[in-house]
Amino acid sequence: MSFLSNLSWRYATKNFDTTRKVSDTDLEQILEAIRMTPTSFGLQPYHFYVVSNTDILARIGVAAYNQPQLTTASHVIVFVARTDFDNNNEEYFNLMSGGNAEVRAHMKWFEDMVTGFGQSKNADEYLTWASKQAYIAHGFGLAACAELQIDSCGMEGFDPVAIAEILSLPNSQKALVLLPIGYRSEWEAPRGAKVRFSKDDLFTVIK
Ligand SMILES: Cc1cc2nc3c(=O)[nH]c(=O)nc-3n(C[C@H](O)[C@H](O)[C@H](O)COP(=O)(O)O)c2cc1C
Repeated sequence: MSFLSNLSWRYATKNFDTTRKVSDTDLEQILEAIRMTPTSFGLQPYHFYVVSNTDILARIGVAAYNQPQLTTASHVIVFVARTDFDNNNEEYFNLMSGGNAEVRAHMKWFEDMVTGFGQSKNADEYLTWASKQAYIAHGFGLAACAELQIDSCGMEGFDPVAIAEILSLPNSQKALVLLPIGYRSEWEAPRGAKVRFSKDDLFTVIK
């Protein structure tokens, strides 16, 4: 199957088959696709919690208004935005330079630019920016699942304050969106044809 037909095969699965679990090998591939997400400046201002503990998933389910995905999925990936810019920035430039002060000095112009960008934003603006990056990762996760013919459902219908408490998130992390993954329940019929605006509606081609 091609990538496009897999995108057509996938749908927002509400009920997963509780007897089937995503293998470690497949999970690793999904996580690797998420890790490979491109971000603005490459800063990766996010973190991901991969939850398979049934007690914790039951609590997340309540925080998600009892939507059945949470208690039937094999795993749930919680996409979290990081707002600790200074730490994130330091980790990033340390990684990029391999901890070598000379190498880091050579890229000072870039570090200064990124630092200036981060410091120019207030907390709300920064969270908005970090959230956009995390949503790109969510898209990569959705696409990776489709490519592996693993079912999933993007989910932002939950109380982020409750999720923060359940996962003991530090103040510098905010839960944005979930990705339950698994295998569609046998009895769940996918909705009919995809409801998507036409190419003409969506694309203005400027030659
Ligand atoms: C960011 C995001 C958040 C979503 N939140 C929920 C949700 O909380 N509950 C739910 O049942 N579906 C949720 N969905 C699923 C969408 O309703 C679904 O993807 C959309 O209707 C398109 O249908 P399809 O995914 O089956 O093609 C969400 C999807 C995305 C991408």
